[in-house]
Amino acid sequence: MIIDGKKISEEILEEVRLEVLSIKENHNIVPGLAVIIVGDDPASRIYVNNKKKACSKVGMYSQEYSLPENTSQENLLKLIEKLNSDKNIHGILTQLPLPKHIDEKAVIEAICPEKDVDCFHPTNVGRLLTGNAYVLPCTPAGIIEALEHEKIDISSKHCVVVGRSNIVGKPIALLLLQKNATVTICHSKTSNLKDICMQADIIVCAVGKANFISKEMLKNDVVVVDVGINRLPNGKICGDVDFQDVEPIASYITPVPGGVGPLTISMLIKNVLECFKKIK
Ligand code: GUN
Repeated sequence: MIIDGKKISEEILEEVRLEVLSIKENHNIVPGLAVIIVGDDPASRIYVNNKKKACSKVGMYSQEYSLPENTSQENLLKLIEKLNSDKNIHGILTQLPLPKHIDEKAVIEAICPEKDVDCFHPTNVGRLLTGNAYVLPCTPAGIIEALEHEKIDISSKHCVVVGRSNIVGKPIALLLLQKNATVTICHSKTSNLKDICMQADIIVCAVGKANFISKEMLKNDVVVVDVGINRLPNGKICGDVDFQDVEPIASYITPVPGGVGPLTISMLIKNVLECFKKIK
């Protein structure tokens, strides 16, 4: 079974659209998202465009702040401060990665936690860790959404997460744990990666290496969630999983593109609505 992330994402956006419409009719206000992009990384540009497109699709307000690569950290922090107190903005995100001269941690911590639609602020990460999430981080929330949409049991399953980033690996491991899975996190220094992957009932791969996972590393009927977005020399986009190789032995698999990517965007939009409801 190939999990159609685009279709699930559209269903979620439609639900949000109806709720935004009703808020607009009853309160004459719509949720608003501010998106900050620094520099001109082509991948970031595509992500930011997709986020803005999704906002307009559901009738939300969005503002883009496109700052030049050489923007000072001070200027960026000033902008965030202004957006923190802007009554029309309920969610703020700074697209990562940032240029090297800017301290990512300082930027993440400047966004007020109540408008932190990415769930990157340490306050929100702490809330997530202790099971009191303010909002869920977008990509991990999208993965859980996909699994639940397909009625895939998580409880008691051995979930293997490959990759330990703050954006995907660590938080998806936490969410799976909260759903009562047994979770193993693997990373670049894991010595017996293949043996561990072979035990996975559900594998989530987020390492950013094209075709990193092949069928020799997996058991039959495994559920495969591919978070990678890699560009091949021929310009084609592919995931971290060798899809052609693995698809025949998997019970479920997310494709790239059209799997986790669209779900990340719809979870972001859902988070803007959540922040709006909590703030107002
Ligand atoms: N860069 C890669 N993924 C993300 C994300 O989910 N949010 C932000 N702000 N930047 C990213």
